[in-house]
Amino acid sequence: MKIGIIGLGFVGLSLASVLASKNFDVIGIDTDKKKTLELQKGIINIFEPGLEKVLKTALRKSLIITNEFSLLKNCEIIFVTVGTPQKKNGKIDLSMIKKATSSIGKILQKTKKNPIIFIKSTVIPGTTENTILPILEKKSGKKANRDFGIISNPEFLQESNAIHDTKYPHAIILGGPETKYMKKAKIFFSKIHPNVKMIVTKHQTAEIIKYANNSFLATKISFINQLSNICQNIPNSNIDDVAKAIGLDPRIGKLFLNAGPGYGGSCLPKDMRALINFAGSIGVNPSFLKSVEKINQKQIDNIISLMKKSLGTLESKKITILGTAFKPNTNDIRASKSIELIKKLLKNKAKIFVHDPKALENTKKFFGNKINYSESLYDALDKSYCVIIMTQWEQYDQINKNSLKHMKRKIIIDSRRLLIKKQLDGKYFAIGVGNES
Ligand code: UGA
Repeated sequence: MKIGIIGLGFVGLSLASVLASKNFDVIGIDTDKKKTLELQKGIINIFEPGLEKVLKTALRKSLIITNEFSLLKNCEIIFVTVGTPQKKNGKIDLSMIKKATSSIGKILQKTKKNPIIFIKSTVIPGTTENTILPILEKKSGKKANRDFGIISNPEFLQESNAIHDTKYPHAIILGGPETKYMKKAKIFFSKIHPNVKMIVTKHQTAEIIKYANNSFLATKISFINQLSNICQNIPNSNIDDVAKAIGLDPRIGKLFLNAGPGYGGSCLPKDMRALINFAGSIGVNPSFLKSVEKINQKQIDNIISLMKKSLGTLESKKITILGTAFKPNTNDIRASKSIELIKKLLKNKAKIFVHDPKALENTKKFFGNKINYSESLYDALDKSYCVIIMTQWEQYDQINKNSLKHMKRKIIIDSRRLLIKKQLDGKYFAIGVGNES
């Protein structure tokens, strides 16, 4: 079976690589020529554990990477995995998905195949039926659900776990009418993911499921962060023990209760904003979601006020930030909480030194010579007034008294409580932990 995948970001590239390594004939399409040339050689410019290896296996088998849309003409299945980034007004930008579907439409016009088009990109409810489907019909001159299938199929993979999540999704969501195409889709997914629960529903429901999922995850994080702020002001209390205890209640569950500087990344903040916007546009005031977002926005201010309490003014003081990636095991800094922290510290005229095992290059692209970049922890910490641990990289667990000895003032703000058990001399603040009474 020939499968086409349009948009080779985390989702598309992982899917293309996994399907080709499972012996499907896969054509991966991206309009970025430089990227496709690199991918053809098995080079990826993102740090994603395991992806390069699966990509190389896939290339040796059947994966073709190209920017030629015409190769889609023999595909029986086409996945659309292009990005839907955020516009300045908070709405999602549909330009890439419109372009991709219009190219598919032109191919549909010429082909004798009756492919199924799966929309994996995150889109607000109604987009598939009201925007994507009409483009496909107009460009192809054919009828959806008769000449071709169109199914909403949201994706739940996490960066840094992309290959695992692509191979073992927790659920398959299929949105669209019950047609022969839906029947085929069910057979296809039950073959590649036997035993995974499938929810078949309408397009709009499938679309809102994705937002429900991400906004619930954001809710869990803001919930634990608010509790963490409370704990921080109760002597001898510790947010991690609270999270561990409530996580044992099966009705709550233990995941996504790790308190910290707030949620970042290219998805949760964007999807929260888009959902809040969308709700407003249909006459619903999403007051709860707005609170979740507000708590997230406050987290960095809490860190800065902790710093100011100890240091007074931050002007011209060397401040060290450990971790700029939005989470460990990625070099992605999009909407990273560290980036937000750095921007605010720059406004306070602090002298910033950053360290990150994988994301320094991306951070440099973002801040240029406005801040300093340290390859070693020693350089990052030398003569620093304050260090803030932002990203939970494993190597930061190794930091001890010795690592901090060349700091000018030993103020340590640990947003992930990595050093809580260590004997450190200096002033140690762990986010979510009340000081001893
Ligand atoms: C998120 C969702 O988890 C995926 O299911 C979804 O498919 C994806 O968005 C998407 O829509 O494409 P991802 O952006 O890779 O995945 O990141 P997460 O692992 O969800 O982490 C997001 C942020 O929350 C990070 O900044 C992380 O540090 C923070 N986080 C996460 C916490 O602060 N505490 C936690 O307990 C968990």
